[in-house]
Amino acid sequence: MSIALLALHAFDSFGAENHRRFGAPRADLRGAERERIELGRALFDTRALAKSEPGAALVGLGPVYNMEGCGGCHIRDGRGRPPLVQGEALRQMVVRLSVRMPDGAVMAHPVYGTQLNDQAIEGVPAEGQAFVEYSAVTGRYGDGTPYELARPHYGFFELAFGRLGDEVLISARVPPHVVGLGLIEAVSDGVILALADEDDADGDGISGRPNRVTDVATGRLRLGRFGWKASQPTLRQQSAEAARTDMGLTSTLYAHEDCAPMQRACAASSGQGRPELGDAALDALEAYLKGLGAPLSRGSAGAGVATGQGLFADYGCARCHVPSLKLERAALPGAVPAAIAVYSDLLLHDMGEGLADHRPDGLANGSEWRTAPLWGLGLTEPINGHTRFLHDGRARNLEEAILWHGGEAEPAKERFRLAPADDRAALLTFLNSL
Ligand code: HEC
Ligand code: HEC
Repeated sequence: MSIALLALHAFDSFGAENHRRFGAPRADLRGAERERIELGRALFDTRALAKSEPGAALVGLGPVYNMEGCGGCHIRDGRGRPPLVQGEALRQMVVRLSVRMPDGAVMAHPVYGTQLNDQAIEGVPAEGQAFVEYSAVTGRYGDGTPYELARPHYGFFELAFGRLGDEVLISARVPPHVVGLGLIEAVSDGVILALADEDDADGDGISGRPNRVTDVATGRLRLGRFGWKASQPTLRQQSAEAARTDMGLTSTLYAHEDCAPMQRACAASSGQGRPELGDAALDALEAYLKGLGAPLSRGSAGAGVATGQGLFADYGCARCHVPSLKLERAALPGAVPAAIAVYSDLLLHDMGEGLADHRPDGLANGSEWRTAPLWGLGLTEPINGHTRFLHDGRARNLEEAILWHGGEAEPAKERFRLAPADDRAALLTFLNSL
């Protein structure tokens, strides 16, 4: 596979190197490892094509899909966003689907699969379209200053195979940035489990519990780490799953397209032997994600950063957004740091009714979310040109992201809400320095 060919169909027509990205491959990785990483980056940025043609590097897009390549959603390895104006289609954002059976079990939607695919190749109907509208939720800071949050409501149209049904459960998600994930993968299970406090034995109102999800290669349960509900155990599986559900590319891990038999064109393209994303390509994507270092540092010199960092601890934010996690250095090649400043415990927390999607995912229930790692927050605006946060991108800035916190995070949120304006500003300066 040649990198020149992959570049032909790249998302960023100016050439990825000319643009700042969310991060860069770790400088200590060289030789064959570095080459795999370069190939992985080119694959990450390329568009898959439906049919083989000269210059096509990834073939087998669809028949139904959401985007032609990883880099179309994780733009510059960064964070995606919901539509910004009414009428704009969901592009980088996805809507997961499942149904609750009469016995209470939750399964993929029997017709539409695990995700609504709003695009399709020629001659095949897309599954349907989703839209989002917002209603206002108003509140006041402790000093009386009013604020307004935007609560999302999702609707569907042009559904090709009939209604989703009353028992449908939906979860809308924006793409997080993908930088530093190899380092997150190198945190041992033991370090994460030591932070869990399922029954809140220490009585601080914050529990935190691990998600357990199936490792599809072995069929065993493993600690979940990736995704907004920690529903994927490894970068390899996360990548293969993205290739299948977001792009319609089968692999050795996921041999079948994400659709039911009644979607004839889609079902017919499944299980025809060779995986569309071959093992060499999956290896390269995995190497790329593993090789990306921590998000570019923003420096911590600005006025207010140290004050904000102190308040972050005082308010109790750091109980979930744990500032530093130790690494198992043997887990990665090269000169691996002793710890990472990821600002997460990688555990699930009940975030209350306001953020609930009511859709279980592995062991995560409808109001639990993985503590979002905060490193790289301040790069969102300079690199991705927006400031949308939280799992569905509803927060229009960092204040709103904090004000949506509820459940186990309610006391921390209240300390922020009731704090003087100067302190609130210092906290935001700190967050933007990450
Ligand atoms: C249609 C948009 C879209 C495409 C295309 C896409 N992703 Fe994603 N990606 C997402 C969303 C949305 C999430 C969050 C998923 C969740 O919460 O389960 C995500 C999550 C991830 C994560 C986990 C990040 C974290 O911090 O836990 C990784 C890694 C990832 N994607 C890699 C890839 C790779 C590799 C590809 C290409 C094979 C890809 N993605 C294609 C939308 C996309
Ligand atoms: C009980 C655990 C917990 C506490 C305490 C907590 N958070 Fe969070 N935080 C989370 C979880 C879980 C999410 C992801 C929620 C979602 O996306 O729906 C999150 C998301 C965020 C985000 C958005 C990140 C992103 O990538 O979109 C910011 C910013 C944030 N928290 C800041 C704070 C601050 C500041 C405090 C203290 C005032 C705080 N958090 C306290 C668990 C916590």
